[in-house]
Amino acid sequence: MANSTTHTTGQYRASSEIAERFLAFFRERGHREVAGAPLAVPGGGTSFIIAGMQPMIPYLRGQEPPPAPRLTALQRCLRTDDADAVGTNGRKCTSFHMLGNWSIGDYGRREAITLALALLDELGLDRSRLWVTLFGGDEALGLPRDEATAHEWRRMGMPEERIVPLGAEDNLWTMGGPGPCGPCTELFMDRGVARGCGRESCLPGCACERFLEIWNLVFIEYEWLPGGTYEPLPLRSVDTGMGLERVAAVLQDAESVFETDLFMPARTRLGELVATRGREAPPGRSAPSDQTDTARLERAEARARQMIVDHARAALLALLAGVGPGHDGRGSVVRQLIRRAARQGRVLGLEQPFLGELLGPLATGHGALLTPEEQARVPELARLVTEEETRFARVLTVGLRELARLAPGPDGLVPGERLFALHADRGFPPDLAAEVLAERGLAVDWSSFARAREAHRVVSRASAARRFGKEEHERSGQRGDGGGE
Ligand code: SER
Repeated sequence: MANSTTHTTGQYRASSEIAERFLAFFRERGHREVAGAPLAVPGGGTSFIIAGMQPMIPYLRGQEPPPAPRLTALQRCLRTDDADAVGTNGRKCTSFHMLGNWSIGDYGRREAITLALALLDELGLDRSRLWVTLFGGDEALGLPRDEATAHEWRRMGMPEERIVPLGAEDNLWTMGGPGPCGPCTELFMDRGVARGCGRESCLPGCACERFLEIWNLVFIEYEWLPGGTYEPLPLRSVDTGMGLERVAAVLQDAESVFETDLFMPARTRLGELVATRGREAPPGRSAPSDQTDTARLERAEARARQMIVDHARAALLALLAGVGPGHDGRGSVVRQLIRRAARQGRVLGLEQPFLGELLGPLATGHGALLTPEEQARVPELARLVTEEETRFARVLTVGLRELARLAPGPDGLVPGERLFALHADRGFPPDLAAEVLAERGLAVDWSSFARAREAHRVVSRASAARRFGKEEHERSGQRGDGGGE
C-alpha cells in the first residue's frame, strides 16, 4: 500500500487509512511488506484463504526461507463455515481483511506485545479499554499455561484483572485442523457496559457486544500432527492477525462492523431500494399484532440488512479473485452467498434483483482497499451478480410460497420429503429452505429427507438402466440389420 500520512491520535480514520498505517508502522520497524495472497488458493486444501498466516505456512514450518524474517501484509479472507452467525452479532463477517505482522524465528513475545501496544497508541485506541486473554494451559493436551505471555503483559503495565486466562478452545490457535499452531493472546476493546449483557461473569470471550476482539497474537511453536499430538517446530515464530473491520468499528464508534465506512454506502443504497421498491409486507407475513411481534420483525430486518451487505461484499471479493457463481467447490460458495442474500432481500420486501446494485457502493466504501483495476471491474461483476440473482428469482418466489404452506408433522418436525420434493422439482436449495423454516422456529426431519433422496436415486438408476437397455437394444438391432451378423 502507499506510504501513510501522519495522523493525530484519536482522529477518525477511514478503513483504508487504518490499513496503510498498520503496514507503514511495521515497515518502519524492519518488516518487509508482502502482497496478500489471492483469495482463491490455487489447488489449495481450503476453498478460500481463511487466515492471514496461510500463505506463511511454509516459512513457519521452516520448509522454505521467508523473503525476510519480519513480514507484514494485508490479507483478504473468506470463511463461510459459520455464515449463520452473520447478523446475530456486530462482529461476524464472512469475508474480512486481516492485517498481520510475522516474525519467522526472529522476535518473540516481548517484542510482539510491545509493538502491538505501540501501534494501538498510534491508532488512538484507548489502552485503558484494553483487555487481553492468554492460554491457561491444558493438562489433557500436555500443554502448559502461557506464563511468559502473562509476564510480558504485566511488565507493560496491564492490570492483573484485565489479563484473562482461557482454555485451549479460545487461546490455542489452530487452523481448525493439523498444521502449525500455538498459544495466543487476544486483544479485546471494552466497548462499554451499556453494550454488554450485564452479567457478572461477562469477560472477554463473552458472546455479548461489550468486549470486541480486535487482534490475535499467536506464538507459533507446535505442529499439530494428524494423530492429535503437538510437536515443537524448529522455529519459534509470531503470527498476528488484526481484523480491519473491527478496528474500524472501534475507531469510528460504529455499532457494528456493518456501520463502518466500508459498508455504509451500500447500507444507504439498500435503504433507498427498500424505500422505493420494497413492498409493505413480504409474503407470509401478517401485520404485527403486538410489540413482541414488532420487535421480532425489526430484528429480522436488521439481520437481513447486515447479511445482505456482508454476503454481497464476500461475493464481490470472490468475484474479484476470479471465482464466479457455479455448481461445485468455490463457485458453489459464491452462488450460495448470492442466493442467501437474495432471500434476505425478500425479508425486506425486495422482490426484484437488487444485489448487483450494491457492488458499486461497496467498492466506494472500500476505496483504496481495492486497486484501480479492481474498481474498474466492478460494473461488469455487478451485472454477473444480477444475472445470477435473476436466474434464481423465480425459484425463490415459488419456493418461498410453498415453504410458507409447510407445517410440522405430529413429531413437531417438517417432513424432509417435502424439502426434497422442493429441491428435486423446483431446484430450491434444501439448506436455504431449512434456514427459512428455522426463522419460523421450525426444524426439519432430515432422516425423511435422506430416505426421499435415496428413493429418488433408486428410481433414477432404474429409469437410466431402462433407457440404457432400450438404447442398447436399438443399437444391437441396428448392428444386426447393418452388420450382417
Ligand atoms: N492466525 C491467527 C488468526 O487467524 C492470527 O493471525 O487469528
